[in-house]
Amino acid sequence: MNSNTASEHSTIGEEHLSVPASERADFVVVANRLPVQQVVTEGGEEWRPSPGGLVTALTSVLQNHNSLWIGWPGASGDGDPPLTYEGIRLKAVAISPAEHDNFYLGFSNATLWPLYHDAIRAPTFHRHWWQTYKKINMRFATAAAESVAPGGTVWIHDYQLQLVPNMLRQLRPDVRIGFFLHIPFPPSELFMQLPWRKEILAGLLGSDLVGFQVPQMASNFSRIARRQLGAKGTDSMLEYDGRLIGVGAFPITIDTAQIRALTADAKIRERAREIRRDLGNPEVVLLGVDRLDYTKGIQQRIRAITELYADGTMSGDKHVMVQVAVPSREADAHYELERHSLEQVVSEMNGDHSLVGSPIIHYLHQNMPFDELLALYLAADIMLVTPFRDGMNLVAKEYVASRTNLTGRLVLSEFAGAAAELRGAFMVNPHDLDGIKEAVCLALKVSPKEARARMSRMRRRTLRHDVYDWAESFLASLQHVAAVDSREQAGEFDPPEDGKS
Ligand code: G6P
Repeated sequence: MNSNTASEHSTIGEEHLSVPASERADFVVVANRLPVQQVVTEGGEEWRPSPGGLVTALTSVLQNHNSLWIGWPGASGDGDPPLTYEGIRLKAVAISPAEHDNFYLGFSNATLWPLYHDAIRAPTFHRHWWQTYKKINMRFATAAAESVAPGGTVWIHDYQLQLVPNMLRQLRPDVRIGFFLHIPFPPSELFMQLPWRKEILAGLLGSDLVGFQVPQMASNFSRIARRQLGAKGTDSMLEYDGRLIGVGAFPITIDTAQIRALTADAKIRERAREIRRDLGNPEVVLLGVDRLDYTKGIQQRIRAITELYADGTMSGDKHVMVQVAVPSREADAHYELERHSLEQVVSEMNGDHSLVGSPIIHYLHQNMPFDELLALYLAADIMLVTPFRDGMNLVAKEYVASRTNLTGRLVLSEFAGAAAELRGAFMVNPHDLDGIKEAVCLALKVSPKEARARMSRMRRRTLRHDVYDWAESFLASLQHVAAVDSREQAGEFDPPEDGKS
């Protein structure tokens, strides 16, 4: 087994860089997806901003620098992506259909995704997927190496690109490298299943700073790096291969100012009222908003709600549920199966409990513009976020941020990263159907006074930081670790002692 693809390549000399020095960027973001994606509209195909907080967070940071975003333009449609987005230069990394199968559907989403999410589905290990993962990671690393200015900063994102930090370090030892994992990092018992565990660890340790969503994941990583690769140091500062590597938790969050502005918008407020009218003005609207993914616990949540209808706790004339399931990774068999069984559960629930003209669950399998999502958040009395495992879950934070009048109740899985911050939620173990039912009953019965107290507690915590603070705090730590490392290289620093955090 190859221990490290990057070690086969030597540092790129100035003369071999295809991008002239004057065009190289001081700050480069490397993510699997570009910040724009091609969508099919009535007028044909067009490029629109990719959904999600990462684009919002990084756009403003990138706009303040001479910057570049490197990513894959996506599998759908033809045509080249634009050269810039909101003033940020874009560089597309091409992935062929066969590579897409092995790298994206295969190693990224059928090996790493389930393994890192508590093995909710059995991860599949294939050597040819791994070979393509290495190849594509090298393609991203090379694109970054060619594009970053001397001494510049490269910020690499997520599980699809875990080998890029070390590959890039081999090619460009002069640059500062940060890595942030958006999904959970698994406990040792699961991570150890990975036949290429050492290569992945070494890949990540090529960074100056490795960031995770919550402290538990950061210490999982440090502990495994010490045991498997003999790294020295503490949970927050490792020493490996003669360098210092910072490790920490940087919980991602939302664009609170954007949500504040949108929730104050009269059109969106009116749309929320209209949604409630369209639902028949029930006493209680329950809402779920998820990517259609088997990690999100959508079926389990709907089964729990169905039982509450069956035992008479809820009834079709008073309680209505809306479930938005955003299409995702539809070429993967697990996702296809999940969709079919979810749709079966939804139709059973409606068949058993709906009234003529008013289904009890409104199921929307579609992409939803952010304005419409906000209107749904405003229309919903109870928000259900019950993933089996989730790195953070920004839907929970968006719901809380949108409830400016302090109404609304959140039922939240204790296995979502957001649970560490949103202590005012009705917490559930998503594997415990009775537990979900109890939490929903509590949310239905809670006094308005207690509901307000819970919501204001969650809002205080959520509104304290926004996604810009998140990006700044990561980049400030990256700068700090790189400065400490240079002092150590100059012989002015004692490396950390073993095993202490
Ligand atoms: C999660 C991952 C992202 C990914 C997104 C959508 O949030 O952390 O890296 O981009 O899901 O999935 P997709 O496979 O469509 O990119």
